[in-house]
Amino acid sequence: MNFHTRKWVKPEDLNANGTLFGGSLLAWIDEEAAIYAMCQLDNPRVVTRFMSEINFVSSARQGDVIELGMTATRFGHTSVTLRCEVRNKMTRKSILTIDRIVFVSLDENGEPAPHGKTRIFYSRGDEPLAQAEARQEAEALPA
Ligand SMILES: CC(C)(COP(=O)(O)OP(=O)(O)OC[C@H]1O[C@@H](n2cnc3c(N)ncnc32)[C@H](O)[C@@H]1OP(=O)(O)O)[C@@H](O)C(=O)NCCC(=O)NCCS
Repeated sequence: MNFHTRKWVKPEDLNANGTLFGGSLLAWIDEEAAIYAMCQLDNPRVVTRFMSEINFVSSARQGDVIELGMTATRFGHTSVTLRCEVRNKMTRKSILTIDRIVFVSLDENGEPAPHGKTRIFYSRGDEPLAQAEARQEAEALPA
Protein backbone atom coordinates (compact mmCIF):
# COMPACT_ATOMS: atom_id res chain seq x y z
CA MET A 1 0.00 0.00 0.00
CA ASN A 2 1.30 3.46 -0.91
CA PHE A 3 0.87 6.35 1.51
CA HIS A 4 1.02 9.28 -0.91
CA THR A 5 -0.77 12.01 1.04
CA ARG A 6 -0.13 13.54 4.42
CA LYS A 7 -2.43 15.93 6.28
CA TRP A 8 -1.70 18.24 9.17
CA VAL A 9 -4.57 18.29 11.71
CA LYS A 10 -5.62 21.93 12.22
CA PRO A 11 -8.15 23.56 14.61
CA GLU A 12 -10.89 23.53 11.95
CA ASP A 13 -10.55 19.73 11.66
CA LEU A 14 -11.45 18.98 15.29
CA ASN A 15 -14.63 17.61 16.88
CA ALA A 16 -16.11 18.63 20.27
CA ASN A 17 -13.72 16.18 21.95
CA GLY A 18 -10.71 18.06 20.54
CA THR A 19 -9.76 15.17 18.27
CA LEU A 20 -9.91 14.76 14.50
CA PHE A 21 -13.47 15.19 13.15
CA GLY A 22 -14.57 12.09 11.20
CA GLY A 23 -16.29 14.18 8.51
CA SER A 24 -13.03 15.98 7.64
CA LEU A 25 -11.18 12.68 7.49
CA LEU A 26 -13.83 11.08 5.26
CA ALA A 27 -13.68 14.04 2.84
CA TRP A 28 -9.88 13.66 2.60
CA ILE A 29 -10.23 9.90 2.06
CA ASP A 30 -12.90 10.29 -0.66
CA GLU A 31 -10.71 12.81 -2.52
CA GLU A 32 -7.56 10.70 -2.19
CA ALA A 33 -9.42 7.56 -3.31
CA ALA A 34 -10.95 9.39 -6.31
CA ILE A 35 -7.50 10.61 -7.40
CA TYR A 36 -6.11 7.08 -7.01
CA ALA A 37 -9.00 5.63 -9.07
CA MET A 38 -8.66 8.32 -11.78
CA CYS A 39 -4.94 7.61 -12.13
CA GLN A 40 -5.33 3.83 -12.18
CA LEU A 41 -8.27 3.85 -14.63
CA ASP A 42 -6.79 6.71 -16.70
CA ASN A 43 -10.19 8.42 -16.63
CA PRO A 44 -11.02 11.64 -14.74
CA ARG A 45 -14.73 10.75 -14.78
CA VAL A 46 -15.05 8.34 -11.84
CA VAL A 47 -17.61 8.29 -9.02
CA THR A 48 -17.81 6.61 -5.64
CA ARG A 49 -20.36 3.78 -5.82
CA PHE A 50 -19.86 1.96 -2.50
CA MET A 51 -17.95 2.27 0.75
CA SER A 52 -17.80 -0.59 3.26
CA GLU A 53 -17.75 -0.37 7.05
CA ILE A 54 -15.39 2.27 8.44
CA ASN A 55 -13.50 1.11 11.47
CA PHE A 56 -12.20 4.09 13.51
CA VAL A 57 -9.67 2.49 15.89
CA SER A 58 -7.74 5.53 17.17
CA SER A 59 -7.67 9.27 16.58
CA ALA A 60 -5.41 12.27 16.08
CA ARG A 61 -5.00 15.59 17.89
CA GLN A 62 -4.33 19.12 16.70
CA GLY A 63 -0.81 19.33 15.28
CA ASP A 64 -0.59 15.61 14.46
CA VAL A 65 0.34 14.52 10.96
CA ILE A 66 -1.67 11.70 9.43
CA GLU A 67 -1.03 9.77 6.23
CA LEU A 68 -3.55 8.23 3.83
CA GLY A 69 -2.79 4.91 2.13
CA MET A 70 -4.63 3.33 -0.82
CA THR A 71 -4.26 0.21 -2.88
CA ALA A 72 -6.40 -1.35 -5.59
CA THR A 73 -7.60 -4.81 -4.58
CA ARG A 74 -9.89 -5.65 -7.51
CA PHE A 75 -10.30 -4.48 -11.09
CA GLY A 76 -13.82 -5.18 -12.35
CA HIS A 77 -15.39 -4.47 -15.75
CA THR A 78 -16.40 -0.84 -15.06
CA SER A 79 -15.32 -0.62 -11.41
CA VAL A 80 -12.22 -0.69 -9.28
CA THR A 81 -12.16 -1.63 -5.59
CA LEU A 82 -9.69 0.06 -3.24
CA ARG A 83 -8.56 -0.65 0.30
CA CYS A 84 -7.69 2.30 2.54
CA GLU A 85 -5.69 2.73 5.73
CA VAL A 86 -5.04 5.98 7.60
CA ARG A 87 -2.15 6.16 10.09
CA ASN A 88 -1.05 8.72 12.66
CA LYS A 89 2.60 9.54 11.98
CA MET A 90 3.09 10.91 15.52
CA THR A 91 1.69 7.96 17.48
CA ARG A 92 2.46 5.36 14.75
CA LYS A 93 -1.05 3.98 15.34
CA SER A 94 -3.60 3.03 12.71
CA ILE A 95 -6.54 5.48 12.75
CA LEU A 96 -8.92 3.58 10.50
CA THR A 97 -9.28 1.00 7.78
CA ILE A 98 -11.86 0.72 5.00
CA ASP A 99 -11.78 -2.65 3.28
CA ARG A 100 -13.73 -1.73 0.15
CA ILE A 101 -14.23 1.56 -1.64
CA VAL A 102 -15.73 0.99 -5.09
CA PHE A 103 -15.36 3.55 -7.88
CA VAL A 104 -17.11 3.29 -11.24
CA SER A 105 -15.61 4.57 -14.47
CA LEU A 106 -18.13 6.59 -16.50
CA ASP A 107 -18.42 7.64 -20.13
CA GLU A 108 -19.29 11.17 -21.31
CA ASN A 109 -23.00 10.42 -20.75
CA GLY A 110 -22.43 9.45 -17.12
CA GLU A 111 -23.00 5.74 -17.83
CA PRO A 112 -20.70 2.98 -16.52
CA ALA A 113 -17.95 2.37 -19.07
CA PRO A 114 -15.51 -0.58 -19.30
CA HIS A 115 -12.03 0.59 -18.29
CA GLY A 116 -9.99 -2.33 -19.64
CA LYS A 117 -7.53 -2.27 -16.70
CA THR A 118 -6.55 -5.45 -14.87
CA ARG A 119 -3.69 -4.52 -12.53
CA ILE A 120 -2.02 -1.68 -10.66
CA PHE A 121 0.41 0.51 -12.60
CA TYR A 122 2.98 2.78 -11.05
CA SER A 123 4.29 5.81 -12.95
CA ARG A 124 7.87 6.88 -12.36
CA GLY A 125 8.24 10.65 -12.01
CA ASP A 126 6.25 12.33 -14.79
CA GLU A 127 6.03 9.14 -16.90
CA PRO A 128 2.64 8.98 -18.70
CA LEU A 129 0.36 6.09 -17.67
CA ALA A 130 0.49 4.42 -21.12
CA GLN A 131 4.30 4.38 -20.94
CA ALA A 132 4.22 2.96 -17.38
CA GLU A 133 1.82 0.24 -18.55
CA ALA A 134 4.09 -0.70 -21.47
CA ARG A 135 7.19 -0.73 -19.22
CA GLN A 136 5.56 -2.88 -16.55
CA GLU A 137 4.10 -5.31 -19.13
CA ALA A 138 7.61 -5.68 -20.63
CA GLU A 139 9.16 -6.18 -17.15
CA ALA A 140 6.54 -8.87 -16.41
CA LEU A 141 7.36 -10.90 -19.56
CA PRO A 142 9.62 -13.91 -19.01
CA ALA A 143 13.14 -13.32 -20.40
C1 LIG B 1 -22.26 4.99 -10.65
C2 LIG B 1 -23.59 4.73 -11.35
C3 LIG B 1 -23.67 5.52 -12.65
C4 LIG B 1 -23.54 3.23 -11.68
O1 LIG B 1 -24.79 2.85 -12.14
P1 LIG B 1 -25.30 1.37 -11.80
O2 LIG B 1 -26.63 1.22 -12.46
O3 LIG B 1 -25.16 1.10 -10.36
O4 LIG B 1 -24.25 0.49 -12.61
P2 LIG B 1 -24.01 -1.03 -12.53
O5 LIG B 1 -25.08 -1.79 -11.83
O6 LIG B 1 -23.68 -1.42 -13.95
O7 LIG B 1 -22.68 -1.16 -11.64
C5 LIG B 1 -21.49 -0.54 -12.05
C6 LIG B 1 -20.36 -1.21 -11.30
O8 LIG B 1 -20.50 -0.97 -9.90
C7 LIG B 1 -20.50 -2.21 -9.20
N1 LIG B 1 -21.42 -2.09 -8.10
C8 LIG B 1 -22.71 -1.73 -8.14
N2 LIG B 1 -23.24 -1.74 -6.92
C9 LIG B 1 -22.27 -2.12 -6.08
C10 LIG B 1 -22.21 -2.31 -4.67
N3 LIG B 1 -23.26 -2.12 -3.88
N4 LIG B 1 -21.04 -2.69 -4.14
C11 LIG B 1 -19.95 -2.88 -4.90
N5 LIG B 1 -19.94 -2.71 -6.26
C12 LIG B 1 -21.10 -2.33 -6.82
C13 LIG B 1 -20.97 -3.24 -10.20
O9 LIG B 1 -20.53 -4.55 -9.84
C14 LIG B 1 -20.31 -2.72 -11.47
O10 LIG B 1 -18.95 -3.07 -11.48
P3 LIG B 1 -18.30 -3.99 -12.65
O11 LIG B 1 -18.73 -3.43 -13.97
O12 LIG B 1 -16.82 -3.83 -12.44
O13 LIG B 1 -18.77 -5.39 -12.42
C15 LIG B 1 -24.82 5.09 -10.47
O14 LIG B 1 -24.97 4.09 -9.46
C16 LIG B 1 -24.65 6.42 -9.82
O15 LIG B 1 -24.72 7.45 -10.48
N6 LIG B 1 -24.43 6.43 -8.49
C17 LIG B 1 -24.18 7.66 -7.76
C18 LIG B 1 -22.66 7.97 -7.74
C19 LIG B 1 -22.38 9.20 -6.91
O16 LIG B 1 -23.04 10.21 -7.05
N7 LIG B 1 -21.37 9.10 -6.02
C20 LIG B 1 -21.09 10.13 -5.05
C21 LIG B 1 -20.33 11.29 -5.60
S1 LIG B 1 -18.81 10.86 -6.43
